[in-house]
Amino acid sequence: MQILITGNMGYVGPVVIRHLRARFPDAVLIGYDSGLFGHCLTGSSCLPEMVLNRQIFGDVRDIEPDVLAGCDAVVHLAAISNDPMGDRFAEQTNAINHLASVRLAHLARDAGVRHFVFASSCSVYGAASDGARTETDSVLPLTAYARSKIATEDGLRQMDRGGMVVTCLRFATACGMSDRLRLDLVLNDFVACAVATKEITVLSDGTPWRPLIDVTDMARAIEWAVGRRPESGGDMLVVNAGSDAWNYQVRDLAHAVIDRVPDCSLSINQNAPPDRRSYRVDFSLFRSLAPDHQPQATLPDTIRRLVEGLDATGFADPNFRQGRQVRLHVLTQHAASGRIDRDIRVRQA
Ligand SMILES: NC(=O)c1ccc[n+]([C@@H]2O[C@H](COP(=O)([O-])OP(=O)(O)OC[C@H]3O[C@@H](n4cnc5c(N)ncnc54)[C@H](O)[C@@H]3O)[C@@H](O)[C@H]2O)c1
Repeated sequence: MQILITGNMGYVGPVVIRHLRARFPDAVLIGYDSGLFGHCLTGSSCLPEMVLNRQIFGDVRDIEPDVLAGCDAVVHLAAISNDPMGDRFAEQTNAINHLASVRLAHLARDAGVRHFVFASSCSVYGAASDGARTETDSVLPLTAYARSKIATEDGLRQMDRGGMVVTCLRFATACGMSDRLRLDLVLNDFVACAVATKEITVLSDGTPWRPLIDVTDMARAIEWAVGRRPESGGDMLVVNAGSDAWNYQVRDLAHAVIDRVPDCSLSINQNAPPDRRSYRVDFSLFRSLAPDHQPQATLPDTIRRLVEGLDATGFADPNFRQGRQVRLHVLTQHAASGRIDRDIRVRQA
């Protein structure tokens, strides 16, 4: 088996490639990434890419057909991966997340790839706190990022897939430890606040709903999708990836963190205007299709591993929101120093 993993040098990627290596020891694993965040390592003792057979540096918009030759599966993670970056770089987000993804799927089909796994997002539901959303409910993408995910799903649905089995995993918001930790994700941010300052400040009123998934459980879902048979869900499947028990309100997450970090206080801005981005999600389809690949992490364990991971690096930076674990900040620094151009293309010279 040969698997191409795009966007492998981000937050989710290192956990995914380690999991795939463990599950498929003999597989040829190839990474493809522009390397935007390659330097943002969090205390790992070796380069995460060492488990790969090959690492290719390149922009997914320019990927050549020969990269896909001989591949059985593509795990497509490469993306501008959150709302703040999408707001700042809306056009580029569409070009990378949507147009390049659909082009990649066409190239994969032409190369005879059997499985195409797309990392979509539950953020496509936008404002949906009145009831848990299923895959057949209407979506309300509120941001350029969420729109790019829906546009890609539509493009994959409309294309002639030629027998390629496509799985769009609408992931809940990721959390948990990684060799390239991100601190611009809600739970990770709370844990970093607690560790660095002993105080969590919730900027909203704490009521928005946000389903979460541990990165190790994302890897488990991807493993399932890489081998999914079309009899289970059809050759084009969109499925919410997460678990019902992990639908949390933001204030519940903050309380769970202060419960596990001694002497940590919590302040919630009761007067904050309501955050429209609030959604609850129904994960029953994923449960029925992938009973052997269901999330296993518990929230206390995820928090504990984050605290231990941050402690192990001596993390104590109260200004971490301006640091290298925050994606928009790193992109802004790359732009200011001329390492990327206006299109977020890495300058070679
Ligand atoms: N983290 C989450 O909460 C979450 C939730 C749902 C879905 N997802 C999706 O999962 C995927 C991975 O997320 P992540 O948290 O690891 O993001 P990340 O930003 O940490 O990693 C994204 C990777 O893509 C690469 N990349 C970006 N533009 C590229 C380009 N033009 N060409 C080649 N490589 C490029 C970056 O260098 C980076 O290594 C993304 O598609 C994201 O939208 C993430």
